[in-house]
Amino acid sequence: MLQVNNIEAVYSKIILALKGMSLHVPEGKIVALLGSNGAGKSTTLKAISGLLSGDGGQITDGTIEFEGEKINNITPDIIVRKGIFLCMEGRRVFGDLTVEENLMAGAYTRKNRTTIKDDMEKIYVYFPKLKALQHRKAGFLSGGEQQMLAIGRGIMAKPKLLLLDEPSLGIAPLLVKEIFQNIKQINQEEGTSILVVEQNANVALSIADYGYIMESGRVVMQGNADILLSNEEVREHYLGMGKDGEKNYKENKMYRRRQRLVW
Ligand SMILES: Nc1ncnc2c1ncn2[C@@H]1O[C@H](COP(=O)(O)OP(=O)(O)OP(=O)(O)O)[C@@H](O)[C@H]1O
Ligand SMILES: [Mg+2]
Repeated sequence: MLQVNNIEAVYSKIILALKGMSLHVPEGKIVALLGSNGAGKSTTLKAISGLLSGDGGQITDGTIEFEGEKINNITPDIIVRKGIFLCMEGRRVFGDLTVEENLMAGAYTRKNRTTIKDDMEKIYVYFPKLKALQHRKAGFLSGGEQQMLAIGRGIMAKPKLLLLDEPSLGIAPLLVKEIFQNIKQINQEEGTSILVVEQNANVALSIADYGYIMESGRVVMQGNADILLSNEEVREHYLGMGKDGEKNYKENKMYRRRQRLVW
């Protein structure tokens, strides 16, 4: 369904953020894109959604194809109409609008009012907390509630492919589990294909079919989610669990650094 082929992306004409990035999202599947800070995960999602130019960036090489059609020179509004919707990092909801108005905003490309109303009810079934808050201004919602709203707004666009940028960011572990279960349910019931970027590799791989791990602008490892989850190297470097549950080298190093700071 989505094929990213060897793309290179540059910010401000000089900062090379993607250096031959490739990935594939098959129809109806959940794909996790993992990696540490600055690896290029958000840049990849922005490149797919046509949003790089807004950040002073551009794709300088490679192609992005969606349903067999090249989309890397198309404007973001047309990409949304083709069925790709990005829920950006940091749950960007419209703070002055109510929950219901935010959900309506997600449906702005759609015409049929009756199905929009039905879908809004469906969102309230996925996220019952939002129903109780439907007339509340989104700016007053908690972080977790805003994240649910951001995902709900994405579903209101009825995308074929939903791109999620770190849905777990700043959210308590219990709620993270709930949000990811909802994402899985949406994928199964609506048939929406999902590409989810996460630092929380464990929770993302637990719902994904396939995973990619990025470092410095390219993929360094990929595989079926269950295989990645059981891979020693992945567990050590990306899940923070070494052999016998010991802390990994990076964490030890961080710990030593922190100690040095204290003394
Ligand atoms: N607007 C921008 N202008 C210049 N450089 C940028 C811009 N946005 C990102 N970068 C740089 O591009 C690289 C990739 O950033 P990106 O935001 O894609 O990383 P990420 O994998 O999403 O990281 P994180 O996990 O911290 O969100 C980083 O080195 C970052 O500093
Ligand atoms: Mg990011």
